[in-house]
Amino acid sequence: TYNQYNFNKQLYTLLQKCTNTTSVRQVSHKNKPTPLAPLTFNETLNYRRNQAKRSILVQVQSMESYKELYSYISTLGNVHEMLHYVTSTDQLHFIIVEFDNEEQVSNIIQNSSHINSGESFPIHSNFLWFKATNRKNSKLKIPKNFKLGMENGNQIPSKNEICNLLLGQDNTNHQIQTLHDVTKLNDVATRLRFLTTRQVELSVAGMFPNAVAYPFGSSVNGFGKMGCDLDIVFRLAEEQTKSDSRLIFHCKANNLYERSITHRHMEVVGDVLQLFLPGCTQIRKILQARVPIIKYYQQFTDVECDLSMSNMSGVCMSDLLHLYGSIDARVRPLVFTVRKWAQEVGITNSSPGRWISNFSLTLLVLAFLQQPNNAPPVLPSVHHVLQQIGLKCENVLEETLQFSFSESGKTLKFKSSNTDDLETLLKQFFNFYSSFDFSSKAISLNEAISITKPEYSPLYIVNPLERGLNVSKNVSLDELEKFRYEIRNALWVLESNQGKSNSNWGLLEMFQTKRKSFQSNYHSFRHDRLMEVSKLFEEDSNGQENSKETNKDSY
Ligand code: GTP
Ligand code: MG
Repeated sequence: TYNQYNFNKQLYTLLQKCTNTTSVRQVSHKNKPTPLAPLTFNETLNYRRNQAKRSILVQVQSMESYKELYSYISTLGNVHEMLHYVTSTDQLHFIIVEFDNEEQVSNIIQNSSHINSGESFPIHSNFLWFKATNRKNSKLKIPKNFKLGMENGNQIPSKNEICNLLLGQDNTNHQIQTLHDVTKLNDVATRLRFLTTRQVELSVAGMFPNAVAYPFGSSVNGFGKMGCDLDIVFRLAEEQTKSDSRLIFHCKANNLYERSITHRHMEVVGDVLQLFLPGCTQIRKILQARVPIIKYYQQFTDVECDLSMSNMSGVCMSDLLHLYGSIDARVRPLVFTVRKWAQEVGITNSSPGRWISNFSLTLLVLAFLQQPNNAPPVLPSVHHVLQQIGLKCENVLEETLQFSFSESGKTLKFKSSNTDDLETLLKQFFNFYSSFDFSSKAISLNEAISITKPEYSPLYIVNPLERGLNVSKNVSLDELEKFRYEIRNALWVLESNQGKSNSNWGLLEMFQTKRKSFQSNYHSFRHDRLMEVSKLFEEDSNGQENSKETNKDSY
């Protein structure tokens, strides 16, 4: 069925298995069943970090090697789960092996060996490979109830697969939901991201046993899709002050400015990744940026990484976004659809630039869902959330660094009475922004209203945690205009949606790029906009009350 795209339903079921049920577990196991959907951000983080500490990654010859691997490795530890995947670039086969506890992982590492070649540095790591033998495998000891997780659990659904799944749906609502279900990060991809951060922590564990590499961004905020990058903030050490201890660590003095210290540390961490850590490739140190980062590709876990060592604001933001995504089941499918649309029509790009970012798009969807459109709002304002937690709106970041949004989310008293379906909300999203006054208004999730722009920037979205900052400061006027043009296009497509009557209907029609005709259409759109603006100037000179100064600036 996998190759016969007309059997969309079957393919959907198959892919759902791929994305949701990535493993079959040993039935008679003393551990509690794995909570596949932990509720809060902190619970998810703790659960996944703990799971990564109990896991190793083993490169094998093929998926079939799992029997031999199980037979060997179960003499050293109690195997809880094994999951198979293939890397997308080099087609390497790996098996994630999860044990009962961390001690068993230490035991495995103690019992592992190096190749005596002198060509590589003999470091200890949780990333291993399984040497093949010529012995016959007739007596492999595998319990009957133990099965390997799904074949290649890290596979990203191809464009064709997604397209055929969407075509097979009954209506646009189902398309929106399906797009989310088949492209969201699955269990294997999530484990791989936490194993990647674990590798970074372990690399400095001798000197910094308390070092923590925190994943943030779409890998953990609930808006991540298969193949998304991994954002990491690496904290070398939190100070340990114990008043009753008379033995104090000798440490070197810090006599550099804070930014220089971070730079030096990042230089060193970059070198450690480059010289010693297996699988870390394509290391680029981008230290002159506003937020200095080290970019690298972890070829064993198949993840593109952005590692920073500055502040924890990204983690707080992920916590907040995670909370918003869990308040209402419609939020994540809508965000996925808008982000996919933006990617397909070419108004965003995974590399940073003058275009709107995925992060800004997410905030735009959340801000829209806070609006009372024809029905009550779907989401509360940040102000409402903070009030319930007992925080003031000022200095949110400083206070929330000590705090978890999602823990408080358990007691959040907000239940929307909005019953609009996904298609209606998507149309309303485009409708809302097609008439939004970007030239004089800023979007603020804190108040859930648009406010007057504090300063000139084509697109202004107030950072909910640091209210003096605009998260979309990078967006140029030209890119904003393209965004507005595509919004009108999408609205037009959705409003004239005839259902399954044409070949590419619903979301697929909306995703179609109009590249060929784009330039001419776009120029006529810009011409129309200029006409609109000059009309406004005429009205202005006639002494009518208006606020077009900002429009004049914008054009
Ligand atoms: P992907 O495109 O799937 O990677 O989405 P993402 O949300 O992970 O975006 P990205 O990797 O660009 O950024 C990671 C995180 O950094 C975001 O989720 C935000 O928490 C934070 N971030 C990104 N851009 C900004 C910004 O301009 N201002 C602030 N305050 N935070 C940002
Ligand atoms: Mg990211």
